[in-house]
Amino acid sequence: MFAASRLTTAFLALVLAAAASAATSPTAQDARVRELLARMSLEEKIGQLNQYSSRELKTGPGSDEDLVAMVTRGQIGSLLNVIGAEETRKWQKLAVESSRHHIPLLFGLDVIHGYRTVFPIPLATAASWDLALIERAERIAATETAAAGVHWTFAPMVDISRDPRWGRMSEGPGEDPYLAAAIARARVHGFQGDDLAAVDTVLACVKHFAAYGAAQAGRDYFTTDVTERVLRDVYLPPFRAAVDAGVGTVMAAFNDLDGTPASANAFLLDRVLRREWGFRGFVVSDWASIREMLEHGNVANLHEAGLKAFAAGLDMDMESNAYRDTLAADVKSGVIAPARLDAAVTAILTAKARLGLLDDPFRYSDESREKATLLKPEFLAAAREAACRSCVLLKNEHGILPLATGNITVGLVGPLADAPYDQMGAWHGRGRKEDSITLLRALEQLLPPERLKFAAGCAANDLETAGIVAARRVAEESDVVIVAVGEGADQSGEATSRASLDLSGPQLELLREVHAAGKPIVLVLLTGRPLMIEAVEPLVDAILVAWHPGTMGGPAITDVLTGAYNPSGRLPVTWPRSVGQIPIFHAQKNSGRPQPKSASDRYYSHYIDSPNTPLYPFGFGLSYTHFEYDQLRLSAPRIQPDAALSVTVRVRNAGARAGEDVVQLYLRDHVGSVTRPVRELKGFRKISLAAGEAQDVSFTLTPAELAFWRADMTFGVEPGTFSVFVGANAMAPLTASFEVEPAVRAASR
Ligand code: NOJ
Repeated sequence: MFAASRLTTAFLALVLAAAASAATSPTAQDARVRELLARMSLEEKIGQLNQYSSRELKTGPGSDEDLVAMVTRGQIGSLLNVIGAEETRKWQKLAVESSRHHIPLLFGLDVIHGYRTVFPIPLATAASWDLALIERAERIAATETAAAGVHWTFAPMVDISRDPRWGRMSEGPGEDPYLAAAIARARVHGFQGDDLAAVDTVLACVKHFAAYGAAQAGRDYFTTDVTERVLRDVYLPPFRAAVDAGVGTVMAAFNDLDGTPASANAFLLDRVLRREWGFRGFVVSDWASIREMLEHGNVANLHEAGLKAFAAGLDMDMESNAYRDTLAADVKSGVIAPARLDAAVTAILTAKARLGLLDDPFRYSDESREKATLLKPEFLAAAREAACRSCVLLKNEHGILPLATGNITVGLVGPLADAPYDQMGAWHGRGRKEDSITLLRALEQLLPPERLKFAAGCAANDLETAGIVAARRVAEESDVVIVAVGEGADQSGEATSRASLDLSGPQLELLREVHAAGKPIVLVLLTGRPLMIEAVEPLVDAILVAWHPGTMGGPAITDVLTGAYNPSGRLPVTWPRSVGQIPIFHAQKNSGRPQPKSASDRYYSHYIDSPNTPLYPFGFGLSYTHFEYDQLRLSAPRIQPDAALSVTVRVRNAGARAGEDVVQLYLRDHVGSVTRPVRELKGFRKISLAAGEAQDVSFTLTPAELAFWRADMTFGVEPGTFSVFVGANAMAPLTASFEVEPAVRAASR
């Protein structure tokens, strides 16, 4: 395959000489890119705009182009899914030898929650509400990724999702724009660090721009229909945060937004991203998303698709073949301005320069570093800690948890108790099931064989029920039963929308049989999203949501079940009672009929067969201790619209053991020029308190927290009454109010 390769000693000397005179400062890099651009032909420039996937590892419906031929002809600027120090070195060698200017390739990969050390899925780490932990997880992911020769991750995914039918909720930060923006910043810093040329950082790509998570009916790739106000208030803030944090690239989404697919949406790619936010990096399409405009029906042929996408601001074409053959003619005819082409190529070359690739194309392809880096013990320890901190305890009755394992027999049943592949979840990078430690394996380390009984009972996703009898027997012979059920890795993630969110396969039947044995039950849910467990909840004494916890899932769940770690995760999404309540989220509007006016009033906003309330609210999660909130104080009863206000609350650990709580602040703007949500998250702090300890926790509310997109589509604060609510979840009762006074000119940006 690489027979054409002929990297001579002379060429190596050239590369090394370039490295020695490395242009390290951004200004020097810019000058270098300008100088390179000036020497490139039209065809060479267009070559930089094309990205193709390795044929061995495809992450979409693939074309079958001859990659070696295209790299040799300089028609490829980036490859995705080419991984490993050895493999990337081979391709890089081919590219730098073939290209007149020795321009290196950029290697991209979906490193969504770890490369080889698999961390919990992003929805899980969002549940930690722990930004330092999230940043550290991404730094480790970047360290492993960069050691495997890969320069660029297609992450963070920051799509707000309020619909668990959509399988990609698992890849994202949940339902809330404020939490998601904070997480976006942490992930970008984690991946990119302070210096992209360092060998433990990678280029990040915030995706999918934009509103992909608003797919109608929760069906992946489907149309979205959101107003500009909702787009700006809800879906865009995490993207803005990522751009402000310096994210190097943006991926356009698959979806059609207000009639124009995101890949050719000039409002998104040009007006908002570049003109309003000042983004200076480059935009890559999603897999074949330019070509898919033919199916969307806004273009008649591939040429038109490429033209519209490029003109709108989409710089790199992933797998559509839309730019390769026709863009040159469009530039020659003047339909595309040469300046537009130069801007796109400059952004791509600048990314390569910032990564240090123009100095040394092989700097990331180092087999010995790769070997020494992957799965380091400290990475595994961090993954275990991340999985502990992501677990959310939803129910704990009769003090069943933490389990006193001293002299009892523990029964373990369920298809996810010993599922090393499934616990890694969707998009698990190069994670290997051989590296995963399951709950069964972890409990085996803790309990002698005669006090641990196991039977899977059934699979998560087929109809076979024969094994349930053995699981029932395990329950009968045990003092307590841990039931690990939920979703397999392939039941969430891309293209895994579900119309039913009940426990799949015979898992409910399994649970009922185990329940019939009459023993206390601890339900452990391994899942990529909320599942509908209203009917299950009364059958069990405790519920722990472990999500898809990654390589170290088993030890982490064991740490939580035994109390070695006191759970501190809080839901980053509202947990519905039923699919019929979806979309359900805490920042809902009030409506004109929020409550009945009398006991007999039926003309109000409700269901006749379900409460409006969720099964568990956003922000909810229990601990083995409990916290009390009081003494809510505001720094002033009234403020000017451009002033800040501080909010302080006293939090006390009223239980008998140390624990962590996520103190959450919600805001309601009672009257606006447009209707406002009943509560919006506007602050949070994760704190740790010893038993009996109390602490004052303060938040500062500034115009940034009070502002919204007003009736005239300007962003700013409006005068009037605001309420703050502080507590342990979105239903926190503790409240105080303040006024924002009218000003001559309201703050805006
Ligand atoms: C399609 C997915 O939507 C996107 O998230 C991913 O980065 C690309 N495929 C590349 O694998």
